[in-house]
Amino acid sequence: MISFLVHFLRQHFFIILCCVVTAFLWPELRKHFVNEYEQYQTRSESDVRLFTREELTQFDGIHNKELYLSILGSVYDVSKGLKHYGPGGTYNYFVGKDASVAFITGDFEKDPNSDYEDDDVLKHLKAQEIYSIHQWKQFYEKDYIFLGLLTGRFYGYDGEKTDYMKKVDEQIEIAIAEKEKHERLRVKYPPCNIEWKAETGTRVWCTSQSGGIDRDFVGVPRRFYEVGKSEFRCACVPDDRLEDPLLKGYDDCDPKSVECFYVVD
Ligand code: HEM
Repeated sequence: MISFLVHFLRQHFFIILCCVVTAFLWPELRKHFVNEYEQYQTRSESDVRLFTREELTQFDGIHNKELYLSILGSVYDVSKGLKHYGPGGTYNYFVGKDASVAFITGDFEKDPNSDYEDDDVLKHLKAQEIYSIHQWKQFYEKDYIFLGLLTGRFYGYDGEKTDYMKKVDEQIEIAIAEKEKHERLRVKYPPCNIEWKAETGTRVWCTSQSGGIDRDFVGVPRRFYEVGKSEFRCACVPDDRLEDPLLKGYDDCDPKSVECFYVVD
């Protein structure tokens, strides 16, 4: 028995030694691995690749075969859209730069890199237009790969939003609030059906689904002047809301009629 044990220990000396050393060092090793893992986790959550404007210019399909574009400071890999963005493609203008404003103006001639200061999102655009750029950004978020952030106008060298970007965000929030308000008013005062004929002029009329709003009332046509707008639109109004000062009746139309005719001069 003893000779067997001695034989066994001799045969497996190094394995046993390794086990003893590992067991001895295990608490320290464990601490080390956990630390490494935690650091990796934090890095992968907070570290976003940062691009400078100069770096981004390289990803234009000529200097580098990859195609990157930036919108509101977020950089996307659009290489899979080669037919749109590649050299000679209709939208090749967008790659290698942040041309956020051009998503609204459709001006694909201007060089936003050489004339950066003038390419001012806030200076030239209304909240709704900035929101449209934001919707393009959402499109890229969904269809392409997000790579990181472009430093400069929208993000600082620490990857944090600049004050400028915070103002852009504010405009986007204003636009969203306006849209929600507009939608609430569409439900409250659904649009009328509308048609035009040379003999009768414009006819507006209400049905329980006019304006695409399915509802339990039909309503009567009224001119609805939304606050801040000089133009009116035709709204179908239920009896209990007819006193709203934002509403006006149509000339020569019975106030209880579900249809009215009018001629635009
Ligand atoms: C402000 C003006 C415009 C901008 C910023 C714009 C931008 C774009 C972009 C970025 C794409 C590529 C989308 C993707 O990655 O899949 C695209 C696709 C397309 N655009 Fe435009 N566009 C504009 C005006 C127009 C106009 C006026 C037309 C038509 C007369 C048009 C027709 C198309 C079509 C047909 C596609 C899809 C092509 C395909 O999938 O093969 N665009 N547009």
